Amino acid sequence: MKNFAGKIAFITGGASGAGLGQAKVFSKAGMKVAIADVRQDALDKAVSEIISYSGVDSDDVLSIKLDLTDRAAYTQAADLVEDVFGGPPHLLIQTAGVNSFGPIEASTFDDFDWVVGVCFNAVVNGLLIFVPRMIKAYGNKEEFHVATTSSMGAFMAGSTTGPYSAAKAAVNNLMYSYAEALKPYGAGATVLCPGNINSNIGNAEKYRPENLRNTGYHVSEGTMKTLRAIHATGIDPVELGEILKEGIETGRVIVLPDHNTGEQRAAQLRGQNATIEDYCLTAPEREEKAAARMAEMMKNFAPPAGGDGKDAPPPPPMWGVPEGGEAFGQARRDLDWVDENKKAK
Ligand code: NAI
Repeated sequence: MKNFAGKIAFITGGASGAGLGQAKVFSKAGMKVAIADVRQDALDKAVSEIISYSGVDSDDVLSIKLDLTDRAAYTQAADLVEDVFGGPPHLLIQTAGVNSFGPIEASTFDDFDWVVGVCFNAVVNGLLIFVPRMIKAYGNKEEFHVATTSSMGAFMAGSTTGPYSAAKAAVNNLMYSYAEALKPYGAGATVLCPGNINSNIGNAEKYRPENLRNTGYHVSEGTMKTLRAIHATGIDPVELGEILKEGIETGRVIVLPDHNTGEQRAAQLRGQNATIEDYCLTAPEREEKAAARMAEMMKNFAPPAGGDGKDAPPPPPMWGVPEGGEAFGQARRDLDWVDENKKAK
């Protein structure tokens, strides 16, 4: 998709962070933008931010309070967009997301239902509700496109990121399917996989729904403070929105923006793919290759050439626990099957 002016965008999670950055970027590109989010106060603030950023008329920004996991309400939201803007979106961007961290063996059904519900099931809802409408209205007549915000977490499953990584990996595969499926209609699909975004996701636990609050993870003001400090070092949402726009314009199915250099990121991804391939080898062969690969990868993180390390920039202050913060990714103290070292102290 190359021409945005005068067309319609529907952006989930558009009241905050990455989704708000995308709403600003596509509004400035001349689109009528509908933002859907579960938080009314954040929606109200976002609408004025979008208008003052892009200078558009208030009629060209529509805010919809919506829990994306509610299919009936999502369908009504799609009807509302058609009523107000005169058609379904040409550009569907599904960016709403939440996360929660803790040892996978401590997870509860609520942890999975919340995180997978918003990060994956709601994406399915959006695609099933909007894509048939988009094909009928625009197939081979006008440009249209679907995009989803996934994560680098889609490519790497950590022991404390289970529901999130699983949901994001599923989102990636789903978007590869749509990229192929939409070609005969003259449309495309993109999945955006950022590393770290300067957003409000560190506060997500605050609005975890009442009926899904039985978590197996240790969650506190302190863990949220630590997460907020990490995300404060992430990419600016508007910059990320511009990167997504460029990815859509150039027909990229996967967009991998990050503060790391392209080569560092590529080496990391090559390493992960090779790890999977290596399971075709015997155990000793696999260990030898893994050691060689680790040594190769570390070269990319070495100090600048010719230096003895003195000139190397300090590592970003990303992963420390700030004053008043607490380590995240730990289990609730009362779970009697979880290793003591994995529980909150
Ligand atoms: P954010 O918290 O600033 O924005 C997410 C928005 O989604 C919030 O406004 C929230 O109210 C909304 N939302 C949550 N549950 C909802 C529901 N059931 N229905 C409707 N809206 C709902 O967070 P951020 O970081 O901007 O997240 C956007 C996307 O980026 C997410 O999919 C996240 O997984 C992804 N991402 C974030 C990274 C980060 O470092 N913050 C890194 C990689 C990916």
